[in-house]
Amino acid sequence: MAPFLLGWVAACQPATPAGDPGDPLPGLTTVEAERFVEGRALFDRVFSAAEGLGPLFNENQCSACHTDPASGGTGEQLVIKATRFEPPLTCHLLAEEGGENLRRRVTPALASHGFTAEPVPAGATERARFTTPFLFGAGLVEAIPDAAILRNADPDDADADGISGRPGRTVDGRLGRFSRKAEVATLLDFTDSALRFEMGLSTALTPVEPVPPHLADLPDIDPAPEPEVGREEMDLITDFVRFLAPLRPRSPEDPAARATVRRGEGLFHQVGCDRCHTPSFRTGRSDVEALDRKRIEVYSDLLLHDMGEGLASVCGLAATPTELRTQPLAGLGHRRIFLHDGRALNPRDAILAHDGEARGVRDAFAALPRTTQEDLLRFLDTL
Ligand code: HEC
Ligand code: HEC
Repeated sequence: MAPFLLGWVAACQPATPAGDPGDPLPGLTTVEAERFVEGRALFDRVFSAAEGLGPLFNENQCSACHTDPASGGTGEQLVIKATRFEPPLTCHLLAEEGGENLRRRVTPALASHGFTAEPVPAGATERARFTTPFLFGAGLVEAIPDAAILRNADPDDADADGISGRPGRTVDGRLGRFSRKAEVATLLDFTDSALRFEMGLSTALTPVEPVPPHLADLPDIDPAPEPEVGREEMDLITDFVRFLAPLRPRSPEDPAARATVRRGEGLFHQVGCDRCHTPSFRTGRSDVEALDRKRIEVYSDLLLHDMGEGLASVCGLAATPTELRTQPLAGLGHRRIFLHDGRALNPRDAILAHDGEARGVRDAFAALPRTTQEDLLRFLDTL
């Protein structure tokens, strides 16, 4: 295509904001940029037991887990969950027994009563380990209109391609787009649950100490008054996450390498990866100019798919143990472990572990000659 034509095509596409790991979205106002910086300080802040951390917790700061290659990134920690599933669709999150998130650490005050890490609840029928996802671009994901996500849903597989795609739901019936079980609707809700379940901090939204009932009456295990984190602090943390820029795709300089990547991108569509890994969405109207009607390359339909017994984990509010939200592939080239539990050490092994609804597409990938597979993998590495 002639350069002027390329320029013309680019001008007709909505802009795709991007940055380096940890950068704010381009085009924030001065006030928004200040909130990003203040929010980051809280995201990085180490909370102490005197401020209310614990008595059960996994880490004492958000960036203990979301740290690599910058705040908002991934990390080595695995979060452990346990649930009780009753087919066809009843999921007990076992929150009262700590199942939502089995916290591995206790404060000295709780240890003095003889408690260590939370045990797996007796009633659990399954448990799972979840790796920490990137938060880069999460604000743009939040800004995608519900209708755009629901458009791709095909719960009864009406087009008979073997791939359904069901929307996730929150406790109160909203569309869930965050978390691997697609059960969280907004970043503020995620901030609330991360503060409570990862750090043991009560919040302005949920001002009760997050401990299972059998610990609630122990004296002096957490004397800090509720809420331990106020609304403005929650909003700042949420704005930091919301204003994180998606990672800039890494297009190679070398023309031959660029041609390989383009071939790989063609194969991605040809074998049907895009039936779940929807390349891009457009955000809706937003009061924040930097989020308003932007194109975002997510490579996920943000819907739940049955991935087969091999990838089974816990159940979720609207998800069976074998259902997982399509993992966004944006930023894949920066990641080192893959799949929800990190069992795959490279993208090829992750693809070959796809099963259930993805079996046909996986087989089509596996049937490609190895060098052709490499072209597709080369494309994934640029994301
Ligand atoms: C102990 C490690 C740990 C800590 C601490 C932690 N997170 Fe997370 N975070 C995770 C894991 C694991 C997931 C994936 C959970 C899932 O998929 O169900 C996650 C997911 C998220 C998501 C959803 C991303 C998506 O695309 O679905 C957001 C938003 C988030 N965390 C924000 C935060 C904030 C804000 C804090 C601090 C208040 C925080 N996290 C603290 C481990 C952690
Ligand atoms: C039926 C829907 C579906 C299809 C088709 C599909 N995927 Fe996936 N993909 C998923 C889901 C769901 C996950 C999350 C699995 C997990 O976390 O255990 C995933 C995860 C991945 C991952 C791991 C990402 C990470 O960061 O952990 C890669 C890589 C991937 N898919 C690539 C592909 C490619 C390439 C194709 C085409 C050959 C493909 N997928 C086809 C649904 C699908």
